[in-house]
Amino acid sequence: MAKTKTAFYCQNCGTSFSKWQGQCTSCHNWNTIVEEIIQKEEKKSWDISGSTKNRTAKPTKISEIETSQEARLKTTSNEFNRVLGGGIVPGSLVLLGGEPGIGKSTLLLQLALRLPFKTLYVSGEESMQQIKMRAERITRNSDLCYILTETKTQNIFKQIEVMTPDIVVIDSIQTLHTDFVESSAGSISQIRECTSELIKFAKETSTPVLLIGHITKDGHIAGPKILEHMVDTVLQFEGDRNHIFRILRSLKNRFGSTNEIGIFEMLGNGLREVNNPSEILLSKNTEQLSGNAIAVSLEGMRTLLVEIQALVSTAVYGTPQRSSTGYNAKRLNMLLAVLEKRAGFRLGAKDVFLNITGGISVDDPAIDLAVIAAIMSSNEDIVIDKDICLAGEVGLSGEIRPVNKIDQRILEAEKLGFRKILLSKHNKIAVKNTNIKLILVSKIEDVVSELLG
Ligand code: TYD
Ligand code: MG
Repeated sequence: MAKTKTAFYCQNCGTSFSKWQGQCTSCHNWNTIVEEIIQKEEKKSWDISGSTKNRTAKPTKISEIETSQEARLKTTSNEFNRVLGGGIVPGSLVLLGGEPGIGKSTLLLQLALRLPFKTLYVSGEESMQQIKMRAERITRNSDLCYILTETKTQNIFKQIEVMTPDIVVIDSIQTLHTDFVESSAGSISQIRECTSELIKFAKETSTPVLLIGHITKDGHIAGPKILEHMVDTVLQFEGDRNHIFRILRSLKNRFGSTNEIGIFEMLGNGLREVNNPSEILLSKNTEQLSGNAIAVSLEGMRTLLVEIQALVSTAVYGTPQRSSTGYNAKRLNMLLAVLEKRAGFRLGAKDVFLNITGGISVDDPAIDLAVIAAIMSSNEDIVIDKDICLAGEVGLSGEIRPVNKIDQRILEAEKLGFRKILLSKHNKIAVKNTNIKLILVSKIEDVVSELLG
């Protein structure tokens, strides 16, 4: 029996130390260093067949390396394909992160059930019966989808040898453990070792592996940062659990752009793809109310029309409250100061509540204009015409600044039947002959006079 070896790892950044210390010298976090048992052995897990033992790589001229452009495995989900840049690349490792309960297992199980390939879905979190129940909710049956409830990588590889799947799904990387490391499942050294075994397997057999990863309370994928470096693609599944919308975003993609997003709706029978998000996000209120404004925002490459709601009321308690859902609270405070200073709105003693409907959050600065419009509208109790939408960034001196991809925004607004769009005067607009009227503004005062008359 080899002597047990231990090392100390920072649970936040994965740096290893030879002895314990209170603060990680690498990421400066306190109390994150934990002792883990490691045991080095010569033999590695993905060698069971012995087929790889004597294989050594040879240098090859780059001109002689064959690529197969169209080799991506297309899933039946357009949104998923889009985020991956056209489909799953053979031999790649895709990591899917997201909050507990957001729908990661549902997304990948649904994908596995609908794939036209032999798929192995390995779960370390749920029993076969639980997975079957979930599959029944999704109401799809498949003869090509195999379920394995196992957490030891050596056993998983044994089963893979037998059934030779075309694609492997692992739910989740934090539940796996390998014999070659003795610390508990979910620890830094286990995650690192299991991932590198899976990478080796994926690269040698050209089988893609989809991994589910948990995230920590501050939103990062649990485990060492190195995990994100090791895999080819990192996807994030996000949304508000109390709302039905889910956004699939790619944070890293070695084989495509990270600008694409996929939009899903969580229904009683699984996830449904949303191809026309704007139409769904806009409420179908026929009654017009003050405090509502429509912003033309951009998420990745896609235009999304979102409805901004503001409520401005006199503060009944000492300190006025400011609260915002789906929009940066600091930015809201900044816009309130701009409205106060540059447009003469007295908001100092008012409560201001802001909400982006649909439970999504938007970072695009182009929604600033709609935010101030909604606040003005609620404050003055004047309704903004529902044929108007807005896209512009607001600067500190009250100037309305241009935003990117303005043509795309104009065309989307026109497509959805808006008749007027408020924009910065300084945008370089290329589209011509549109049916939508462009209202160009340069200062916050212009916005006031356009909307409130
Ligand atoms: P789940 O995929 O288990 O989340 P994760 O793996 O990210 O932790 O999703 C669970 C949630 O999704 C749960 O709250 C129930 C809901 N759900 C539906 O609304 N409809 C469905 O068809 C399914 C399968 C789950
Ligand atoms: Mg799950």
